[in-house]
Amino acid sequence: MISTKLLSCCEKDFCEAGEIIRSGGTVIFPTETVYGLGANALDDEAVKKIFIAKGRPSDNPLIVHVSSFEDIYDYVKEVTDNAKKLAEAYWPGPMTLILKKKNIIPDNVSAGLDTVGIRVPGDKAARDFLESCSVPVAAPSANLSGSPSPTTSKHVIEDMMGRVDAIIQGKDSLVGVESTVIDVTGEVPVILRPGGVTPQMVKDVCGEVIIDKGVNGVTDSEKPRSPGMKYRHYAPKAQVILVYDDKFDVMVSKMLEVVKENDEKVIVLCSEQSKSFFDKLNFMVVGDREKPETFAHSLFDCFRKCDELGYKVIILEGISDDGIGLAVMNRAIRAAHS
Ligand code: TXA
Ligand code: MG
Repeated sequence: MISTKLLSCCEKDFCEAGEIIRSGGTVIFPTETVYGLGANALDDEAVKKIFIAKGRPSDNPLIVHVSSFEDIYDYVKEVTDNAKKLAEAYWPGPMTLILKKKNIIPDNVSAGLDTVGIRVPGDKAARDFLESCSVPVAAPSANLSGSPSPTTSKHVIEDMMGRVDAIIQGKDSLVGVESTVIDVTGEVPVILRPGGVTPQMVKDVCGEVIIDKGVNGVTDSEKPRSPGMKYRHYAPKAQVILVYDDKFDVMVSKMLEVVKENDEKVIVLCSEQSKSFFDKLNFMVVGDREKPETFAHSLFDCFRKCDELGYKVIILEGISDDGIGLAVMNRAIRAAHS
């Protein structure tokens, strides 16, 4: 057990957090996507502590966070045209760019790959923290490996007290799902993980975009381009059944008959639009299905609440995969698969 200091978003505490990072410690910090668990990205001993705190497999690479675009030239060999265009358009923001790394980035950050994922977060508190560190900060999502990413300081405290040196308690994450991971090493940008920056947004800037076919999970025989894709992810402890159909309410009523017979604790996670069908059942509203950003914002929080309440089965209403809906459905599909 480590003694974990609780810090807030003020200049004095950012200075203290920066000091902890520079001396090889671990700090959890808020970002607009999800909370991150950071350590000095240039110090491989510090980086090891991240993997230990999370219980994360060491072949899954980490994202390096910096406070401004210019910083990335110190850590990557070449900033491609697509990288420049995307950075100009969407940084600071919920987007990670994969580029060829310089040797200064230790192998345990990149998990032995010759590339590194790099991001300038949109959240001002995140950038103030990064600036006070004056070193790049490697950070995965600050959850225990396998559980949903934390989007509130409460989630972080539940998962990580006693496992890190400090936690900066900030606002709830605005976006609520992790950043879009885009490989920009080649001619055409390839989305490896959907997020707040949508395929259309990438296309608008680069003219073309490919969504990697491993995005919603890969089979054992395939080698994923983003190692994180092969792991159990985003899942609550409860079993998730994802239902995506025009007749969502009809399907769910039928399913509930079946599950009820097995006497399991079941809850429906649904949209504002369909809640009236479930008023005699356990339900929780995730968001408005016409506004996918509301689903993104609350999905992980709802997963955690269902676990807290002891539900064993979650029936989740799917939404259209337009815009950030693609990221929502990606997390939903992966939670359901595991
Ligand atoms: O929004 C986010 O991206 C959050 C916040 C804290 O910034 N971070 C985050 O990190 O979600 P993590 O470690 O939970 O997810 C990083 C994902 C993994 O799926 C990993 O495999 C992929 O990015 N990744 C990292 N570096 C990569 C690389 N060099 N090539 C391919 N994929 C990479
Ligand atoms: Mg993660």
